[in-house]
Amino acid sequence: GAPVEVDISGIKPGEKLTVEWRGKPVWIVRRTAEQVEALKKNDAQLADPNSDRKAYPTPDYAKNGHRSIKPEYFVAVGICSHLGCSPSDKFASGPQPSLPDDWTGGFLCPCHGSTFDMAGRVFKNKPAPDNLEVPPHMYLSDAKLLIG
Ligand code: FES
Repeated sequence: GAPVEVDISGIKPGEKLTVEWRGKPVWIVRRTAEQVEALKKNDAQLADPNSDRKAYPTPDYAKNGHRSIKPEYFVAVGICSHLGCSPSDKFASGPQPSLPDDWTGGFLCPCHGSTFDMAGRVFKNKPAPDNLEVPPHMYLSDAKLLIG
């Protein structure tokens, strides 16, 4: 499939844009400063905090604490690593139905309850075995992202 060029200039902090790449939904999430900061608190609860697993190898440029090139923008394939459902946004922090009290924001898979943080990292003891896939991508400019 051809690479997809995306204009990201209209995404506001705390919002997500979904585009299609190779028939898959790709999310571009513009995280708030608070959401980036909260990522540091999750490591002990995650199955693979440093994205070392190889099922969906994380590109080197996203093997960091925020799993992305720029801390503000998170780019991921929006497909659960369990059986392929698409997780829902649960960006607000704090107590919500089906989420732990210390929830710091992320995604909840409606099919079997896997939870992922705002960097797409799966929490421990969930059916999903792996973090969300980070697709190959690069910035052409501040406003233009190339996926693929
Ligand atoms: Fe997401 Fe099963 S498909 S938890």
